[in-house]
Amino acid sequence: MRKQIAAANWKMNGNYQQAEKLLNDILSANVILQDHQQAIFSVPSPFLIMAKTEVGEEGGYDVAAQNCFNKASGAFTGEVSVEMLHSIGINYCIVGHSERREYFAESNAMLAEKVNLCLQSSITPIFCCGEPLNIREANTQNDYVAKQLAESLFHLSDRDVQRIIIAYEPIWAIGTGKTATSLQAQEMHAHLRSVLAGKFGAEVANNISILYGGSVKANNAVEIFSQPDVDGGLVGGASLNAEEFLTIIRSLK
Ligand code: PGA
Repeated sequence: MRKQIAAANWKMNGNYQQAEKLLNDILSANVILQDHQQAIFSVPSPFLIMAKTEVGEEGGYDVAAQNCFNKASGAFTGEVSVEMLHSIGINYCIVGHSERREYFAESNAMLAEKVNLCLQSSITPIFCCGEPLNIREANTQNDYVAKQLAESLFHLSDRDVQRIIIAYEPIWAIGTGKTATSLQAQEMHAHLRSVLAGKFGAEVANNISILYGGSVKANNAVEIFSQPDVDGGLVGGASLNAEEFLTIIRSLK
């Protein structure tokens, strides 16, 4: 059974003290997760070790990096390698968030390299895809996201692709307060799953968690997560508020 996941994406917000308090406020609520449920905190790099320590052995809770570099090591001042993440116990890393694609020119080919490095170090990539507004308005979003998957994931084996989490995040819904309707989310998630099934077979595709991201809030999470092909969410703004994120965790199927 594929996992249902609430993944917080804190982005570049807050300082150490605020991060520690937010994490404490959420963890001290002691929301018990079932075996098929998971909550993941994608925190800024300087807070990874602290977050890992806070989360500890808490069942179902873990920590993700927000990014990694697409080369194993070397003269790349300021970058963080997958090996560094692995060596501090990190099990998850967001790869290809639309903000990275847009502001840091990350290409599908570069993201394929990041995915490979993560998998080699037993780090689960949370691979983001999603279309900008002009593509949605032209109604070509299905081909657009299929290409993102094909160019970054189709080289993987059946076994490895099942080690990935996918996050569908329509760019026009990120941080805008404009959520895709639950029907739009379901349609796209079903499409993504059929694209994966076409390449890797239905059984493999059914094992892959596909999260929805883009203005998920406490008051719309149940409705979005209830869709059959939506396996939870990648949550930005609302994950910075303990009560909001707790409600989102509790909204998992
Ligand atoms: P948002 O961000 O929830 O603030 O729209 C989601 C994301 O970018 O992961």
